[in-house]
Parts: sequence; C-alpha cells; structure tokens
Amino acid sequence: MGRVTNALHRLGTGAEIGFRGPYGNSFPLNRLQGKSLVFVGGGIGLAPLRSLIWNVLDNRDRYKNIDIIYGARSPADLCFRYDLDAWGKDKTINMVTTVDKGDENWTGREGFVPQVLEQVAPSASNAVAIVCGPPIMIRFTFPVLEKLGFAPEQMITTLEKRMKCGIGKCGRCNIGNLYVCRDGPVFTYAQIKDFISSEY
Ligand code: FES
Repeated sequence: MGRVTNALHRLGTGAEIGFRGPYGNSFPLNRLQGKSLVFVGGGIGLAPLRSLIWNVLDNRDRYKNIDIIYGARSPADLCFRYDLDAWGKDKTINMVTTVDKGDENWTGREGFVPQVLEQVAPSASNAVAIVCGPPIMIRFTFPVLEKLGFAPEQMITTLEKRMKCGIGKCGRCNIGNLYVCRDGPVFTYAQIKDFISSEY
C-alpha cells in the first residue's frame, strides 16, 4: 500500500529490519481495577480495545460489571467475529452488538453506537468507559456518556492520528497542545474535551 510495505516486499529471506518503539502511553490498568467497565467500540476501533478486553476477562474477578457495546456500518464490517461470539457466550458480561444497517440475514440490533449506548444505559457508578472507533462515533459517544452521568475523568479513549516522527518532534499528530504519539494515544475525555469537537 505504501513505501514501508513496498520496501518490506522487496526484502529477501534473511534480511534485517529495525524497529523503534513502542512509544506513548497505555491503558491505565491500575486505575481500572475494582471498577465496572463499559467498552464502546466502532468498526476497526475494536482492535485496540480487544486486547484490553481479553486482559480484563483473564482477570475477571478484579472488575465489577462489564458491558461491551460494539457496532459497525454493516454485518460484513463487524471485526473479530470470533471474539464477538466468545464474549456473547460469556455470562459474566453484557455484550451488545449493533449495525447501522442490517442485511437480509441480520437478526440482531440496528442503530448507531451512541444511540444504542443510550438505550443500554450502563450505570456510571464506580465505572469507567473506554471508547474507540471512528472520530464521528467518538464525538457523539461522549455526550451520551455525560448524559448517563459519567464525569470526563471516567471516560477514556485511544486516538488515532496521522503520525510522522512518532517521538514528539514533528508536531504532526497534535490535538490541541497534546501530541498523540508522545502524550497518548490513551487520553481521558477531561484531557481532550476542549479540542475534540474542532480537531477530531
Ligand atoms: S508524530 Fe511527530 S510529534 Fe507526533
């Protein structure tokens, strides 16, 4: 697709490649322990959430209620179907899957993720919401969480921005005065709420 993948394809067996990183921060696992967790994901935004979800499920006794609200544009766009199936069977969590628009075989829920979140209405008491998805979904999800009683410090997201240097030098990934590569990608809503509507 681009320079890096083309260069990788040109390499022969035994070639050496170098990595730098990982950089940035991570999900605050210590802060999440003992809480109810509400995961809100859209489309490929499930990718960063699923490793955290699996970690939480591997240590299920450290957490209270777990809600997972995940949606995609269509049934074909739902990612990690095997994970969705596994979580759907897990009686210790409340798994809700939705699509913006179903097809002739879809018997599940329809509706945008923020709307479905409002219908499911998980309790904000001793809870943290972790949100990842397309920018528009993230932008509409925070007001719903606020309506449900979540304070900005109780909402976490992980952002994606076009990056270049990855080490906080070029300023390409900034959101307000924060650099996603260096200060993030994981932020509380309290940290980014002043910038999110205009820049994300
Ligand atoms: S990618 Fe260069 S500052 Fe973040």
